[in-house]
Amino acid sequence: MPLVNTKELFKKAYDGGYAIGAFNCNNMEIVQAITEAAKECNSPVILQVSAGARKYAKACYLRHMVEAAVEDTNLPIVLHLDHGADFEICKDCIDGGFTSVMIDASSKSFEENIAITKKVVEYAHAHKPYVTVEAELGTLAGIEDDVKVEHGNESYTKPEQVEEFVKRTGVDSLAIAIGTSHGAYKFKPEQCTRNEDGVLVPPPLRFDILEEVSKRLPGFPIVLHGSSSVNQEYVKIINAHGGKLVDAVGVPEQQLRKAASMAVCKINIDSDLRLAMTAGIREHMENHPDHFDPRQYVGDGRAYVKELVKHKIVDVLGSNDKL
Ligand code: G3H
Ligand code: 13P
Ligand code: ZN
Repeated sequence: MPLVNTKELFKKAYDGGYAIGAFNCNNMEIVQAITEAAKECNSPVILQVSAGARKYAKACYLRHMVEAAVEDTNLPIVLHLDHGADFEICKDCIDGGFTSVMIDASSKSFEENIAITKKVVEYAHAHKPYVTVEAELGTLAGIEDDVKVEHGNESYTKPEQVEEFVKRTGVDSLAIAIGTSHGAYKFKPEQCTRNEDGVLVPPPLRFDILEEVSKRLPGFPIVLHGSSSVNQEYVKIINAHGGKLVDAVGVPEQQLRKAASMAVCKINIDSDLRLAMTAGIREHMENHPDHFDPRQYVGDGRAYVKELVKHKIVDVLGSNDKL
């Protein structure tokens, strides 16, 4: 089976009330962990590559590793550009074999966002085979590549803009801002309450915005970025083995499950993979101070990422057994 675009996957996900996981990959072990987990769960999956990942691993290594994962698993896998900053990077990825791209002009004006997105859509849709395009309206707090949006400067998506945006751009899916943000520190402690274990509980996502958007765009796939949940079991392992992550907090998984049952067809997860990988490596290093073979400690990190992805697919996304 060749790499696929998001078209059919999103249609089935929308109709079936589940979402496809879009997991960021930066190295071979992460690609293997995600795709082996998806294989065991009979789930389609999106592997996404950021500008930072391209800089770290080089686009050609990532593309070949993802193609190797397709050969290994025979799963429907999408190779997606995450947060494409301009037309050129999107074009480069489309020409280089990506099956889906995100053009993120969300920090620009509405009109500029429309103009850049439309240009990418025209190029991507004319490509054979057809490449799908994701765009974004509204801005998330947090860090993505070189852009840092301080908490308080994020802006929710305005539902009254979405129909015009989709109509004028011809885009295939739309990322919206409803209170998620990038990274492992999504909410300031003062925005949260603490539960009986002292763990921070964040304010709920703006489901009213998601509902209004989906009412205006019936059947249209919505994307959620910044959807790591910062599972505290990994934070505890990290901190118990020499790490120091204080007050890291993510989006509760039940809220993501609810979003997946609505119009959200793609849920982006990166920070949770990083935490799982770090937990596995830190634990291994502390328990085996005599080890120095990277296959041993990176292998433990990979095993933790694989378990995490299986949990996300089954308990959060609901994309298991959807081939
Ligand atoms: O959107 C942000 C993703 O987590 C990518 O992060 O730019 O550090 O690769 P990165
Ligand atoms: P997290 O930082 O919540 O994992 O978000 C990742 C993301 O949105 C990548 O585009
Ligand atoms: Zn993102």
